[in-house]
Amino acid sequence: MNSAIRKYWAQYKWSNVFAMIANMKRHPSRHTEPIRDKLVAITGATAGIGYRTARKYAAMGADIIMVNRNEEKSERVRREIAEEFGIPIEHIIADLTRLQDIQRVGQCILSLERPVDVLIHNAGVHLESREETPEGLEVNFAIHYLCPLIITKMLMPKYRRDRAGRIILVSSEAYRFAVWGLDLEDLQWTRRRYSGIKAYGAGKLAQILSMHILAGQLAPYDVTINAMHPGMVRTESGKDNGPLYRWFKRNVIDKYSGSPEASAEALYYLGTSPEVRHTSDSFFHLTTEEELTPPARDAEVAEALWRKTREILDEMGVAL
Ligand SMILES: NC(=O)c1ccc[n+]([C@@H]2O[C@H](COP(=O)([O-])OP(=O)(O)OC[C@H]3O[C@@H](n4cnc5c(N)ncnc54)[C@H](OP(=O)(O)O)[C@@H]3O)[C@@H](O)[C@H]2O)c1
Repeated sequence: MNSAIRKYWAQYKWSNVFAMIANMKRHPSRHTEPIRDKLVAITGATAGIGYRTARKYAAMGADIIMVNRNEEKSERVRREIAEEFGIPIEHIIADLTRLQDIQRVGQCILSLERPVDVLIHNAGVHLESREETPEGLEVNFAIHYLCPLIITKMLMPKYRRDRAGRIILVSSEAYRFAVWGLDLEDLQWTRRRYSGIKAYGAGKLAQILSMHILAGQLAPYDVTINAMHPGMVRTESGKDNGPLYRWFKRNVIDKYSGSPEASAEALYYLGTSPEVRHTSDSFFHLTTEEELTPPARDAEVAEALWRKTREILDEMGVAL
C-alpha cells in the first residue's frame, strides 16, 4: 500500500474534488427525442434507479428487457410498465452475484436476433457486513465488477455482428473511497478488515478499470461503454443492512438525497443522445464528464486486474 501512496500522491489534484462538488449541483442534460423500435436491457429494475430508468425508456417508446432477481417484484413491474406504456417488455430472472445466473443472462441476450441498443448494468448493493455468494465470491466484487464484465465479454460476438450499441455502467463517486487503489492480493476482502463503503468503492473502481479494457475491445465494433454516477438519490439501497444503518439512511442520507428521476433522465441521455454517440471509456457525473482519480486511470493496474480476474474465473470454470 505504501508504494501505491507514493505512486498516486503526486497525481492527485484538489481541482478534481472541487469539480465533483460543483457537479453535484448540476442538473442532468436532457434528450427529448423518443426511441422507438430500439431495445434496452437493464439490470436491477425492480427498485430505485433501475425502476425509474426502465419507466423512462418505456415512456420514450423503447422495448425493454429487465434482469431482476425477485420474480414477484419483477412481474409486478413488468405488468405495470406494459399496461401503462403499451411497449413490449420482458424479464429474465437471475441472481447477478451467481456465476451460473450471470452466464445464463449473457447467453439469453447473446441469442437475441435484434441488436441491444442500450445495455445498462445497474444492479448493485451496499452491504455493511461482508457477504459471500454460495460460490465463495465477495458480493461487491461479484455484482459490481464480475457481473457487468462477464456479460459484456459474452456479448462481444453479438456486438461484432450488430455493430451497434451503448453500454452504461451505473458506477458511483464512491469509487474514490478506494483512495490508494485496489489490493490485488485481496480483491475479496478476506485478509483485511471489511468496510462496507471501502468494499463498495473497490468494486466500483474495479468496474471502471475493466471499462478501459472493454472500451478498447468494443471500439472496432462502434460500441461505446461509459460509467456514470447517478447522483446521491433516495432508493432502496442498503435495505438489507441492520436497523442502525437503516435508521441513519432514512434520517440522514435520504434527507440529503435527490430523486432517482434525475438518474433516469441522465441514463436516458447517455443511452440515446447523439451528443455522446461516439464518447467511450469516460466517467460521467450524471451527464457531466469528469476526470477520474489517479487509481482509476491506472492502465498497468487495469491490465493486472484483468489477468488476476482471468485466474479467479478460470479456477471457477468461467472463461473471460
Ligand atoms: N442510490 C444512490 O444514491 C446511488 C449512488 C451511487 C451509485 N448508485 C448505484 O446505483 C445502482 C442502483 O442502486 P439503487 O440505489 O437504485 O438501489 P436499489 O433501490 O436497492 O436497487 C437495486 C436494484 O438492484 C437489484 N439487485 C440487487 N442485488 C441483485 C442481485 N444479486 N441480482 C439481481 N439484481 C439485484 C435490486 O433487486 P431487488 O429489488 O431484488 O433487491 C434492485 O432492483 C447500484 O449499482 C448502486 O451502486 C446508487
